[in-house]
Amino acid sequence: MRGNRKTLITSALPYANGSIHLGHMVEHIQTDIYVRFLRSCGEEVIALCASDTHGTPIELKARENGVAPEDWVARFHTEHQKDFADFDVKYDAYHSTHSPENKYYAELIYGRLKEAGLIERKDVEQAYDEKAQRFLPDRFIRGTCPNCNSPDQYGDACEKCGATYAPKELKDPKSAITGLPPVWKSSLHLFFKLSQKGEYLKSVIANPAFMNQGLAAQLQQFFKNGLADWDISRDGPYFGFAIPGEANKFFYVWLDAPIGYIASTELWAKQNGKGSALDYWNEGAQVRTIHNIGKDIVYFHCLFWPAVLSAAKLKVPDHVQIHGHLTVNGEKMSKTRGTFINARPYLEKLDPAYLRFYYASLLGSGPEDIDFNVHDFRMRVNAELVNNLGNLANRTLSLLAAEDMGKKLAPPSTADGKKLVETALARVPEIRAAFDSWDYRAGMKAILELGHAANQFLTVHAPWKQKKTDLEAARSALSDAAEVVYVLGALLKPVVPKLADTLFRQLNAPELTYQGLAKAQYPLLKRDNPIGEPSPLINRMEEAQVSSLVQAPVPESVKSVRPAMAAAAPNAEIEYGDFAKVTLKVGKVLAAEKVVKADKLLKLTVEVGEPTPRTIVSGIAEAYTAEQVVGKKVVVVMNLKPRMLKGIESKGMLLTAGPGGKDLVLIDAGAMTPGAEVK
Ligand code: 2FM
Ligand code: ZN
Repeated sequence: MRGNRKTLITSALPYANGSIHLGHMVEHIQTDIYVRFLRSCGEEVIALCASDTHGTPIELKARENGVAPEDWVARFHTEHQKDFADFDVKYDAYHSTHSPENKYYAELIYGRLKEAGLIERKDVEQAYDEKAQRFLPDRFIRGTCPNCNSPDQYGDACEKCGATYAPKELKDPKSAITGLPPVWKSSLHLFFKLSQKGEYLKSVIANPAFMNQGLAAQLQQFFKNGLADWDISRDGPYFGFAIPGEANKFFYVWLDAPIGYIASTELWAKQNGKGSALDYWNEGAQVRTIHNIGKDIVYFHCLFWPAVLSAAKLKVPDHVQIHGHLTVNGEKMSKTRGTFINARPYLEKLDPAYLRFYYASLLGSGPEDIDFNVHDFRMRVNAELVNNLGNLANRTLSLLAAEDMGKKLAPPSTADGKKLVETALARVPEIRAAFDSWDYRAGMKAILELGHAANQFLTVHAPWKQKKTDLEAARSALSDAAEVVYVLGALLKPVVPKLADTLFRQLNAPELTYQGLAKAQYPLLKRDNPIGEPSPLINRMEEAQVSSLVQAPVPESVKSVRPAMAAAAPNAEIEYGDFAKVTLKVGKVLAAEKVVKADKLLKLTVEVGEPTPRTIVSGIAEAYTAEQVVGKKVVVVMNLKPRMLKGIESKGMLLTAGPGGKDLVLIDAGAMTPGAEVK
């Protein structure tokens, strides 16, 4: 009884320690599409997420920023929810692991593990920073790799040669907090006896319904030497929950993080009068539980978490959906390469529907990485979302809405238009099965084929010509194309919900769902109902909009930052006051054009927070085309005396880095507002 199936689904809880970026968005969009798809099928879904708040990195980062960890995580808790909402990602509850509900369930689960005899006490020798007066997590020790001698490597693994080792093996270790060599100190730790759950876990991960079997095979290596017990305690000071009955011991962040899924369920249940979280997490609860995660945290979700849940007599997830990482232009996102894209700057420039559509077209059900290729992104969105689907809707509906057609649909046809619609309906089960099994890529491919077929149908019938000789035949073809638009609206609603709603409105038809499609028969539209008011569905993505997302790489050789076209700066030291005379502000390039007879110059119109934008002539034309700079946020030297360049008065100068000519990048002002001071 699919209609009665109830699914509890989660995305991994983002650390409340930094902004959401396009890598996070892969998972959250993937989850949201699944949730919307299931709801469209008439199923009940509870979609949950939360902020992951505990641990040493968060505590130290908060301190570095001069705020209490509680306030630090609260800041990101609000920011993350706004980012998700603006990408049309909706959760039924978005809680925090630093909450009374999470404390309650962390203690309850720990109590059950203890009662089951699965907690062991052992002394552990660990690096200790005497100045900071705290034990150091492996990632907070830096030193020389014992394997390849690379300097400045982490305490647990070398980024250069990939070797893993114990922190004590690191040569010349230093605390990342104070820079002092750590001392080695023993302390009592609490271990969850994972070793006793080995056989159970082997059977859990061998179930193809539970997880991807390629990744399960990789997990098998951990069983070879027997599973090691899991250290679930940390010494204070630590931002987390104190372990009951222990002095100065706290739950390790990875113990209480997944318990956050239960805490979020509790919040949702309380807010909606649906009992308690245990109604959904007790063994035998009538709910299908799915975690959507990235492949980097498989170990925690497919080994530790099921072991903890089963030992605590709670329900083990039915499925862990695992996606790959996001690369940008084929490489790992990187701040230094300028390819690290946060959610907010994206939202300031581009429609969230573009990204939802693009990710859906790329995501298969497996853990392969997906690439956000800036060029491919624009091409694919413009070709498929804007041209194929948007134009199909737009030309069909605008012709029907023209004066001669008067928004009226034709009676159902018996000709090839009917066949077109029936062929589309015949593919619905295949598309539904693809989304149901997380293979969005296959689903999207089929949907786009339906769009192409309908466009082809219009090209053959050419109703824009036909209407001059046979208005009713043209109306009939357009009405059948409108049926396909309706079907496409339903199929795409989980992916681009706002666009689908616009389509339903323009068709003046009730929302169509996957559940509705399963029983739908030609004709789907009430033919005696006039259509609504058409308008273009979505704009083309312009090169300038998208290229400004990814900054040009800053060449290694660039050592200087200098105003474009300035004479080489003397290396002599200057007084602080001399530098303070320069006013720098954030500007946004509104328009750009080449300066006639000057190969190196662009004439820019730059908004700098003044009532009228400034005209600035800049020598960047060998490095940037006019299209590439429009929309960019730049740094402007405001208080230079205006000067005439090729007959144009230039008021101000843009900061760039690089030797000049083609090798030059504009200094990016990030997400700052035009007019903001640069200091
Ligand atoms: O890797 C991460 O970003 C973690 N914050 C994910 C936690 S998921 C769950 F276990 F809470
Ligand atoms: Zn190494």
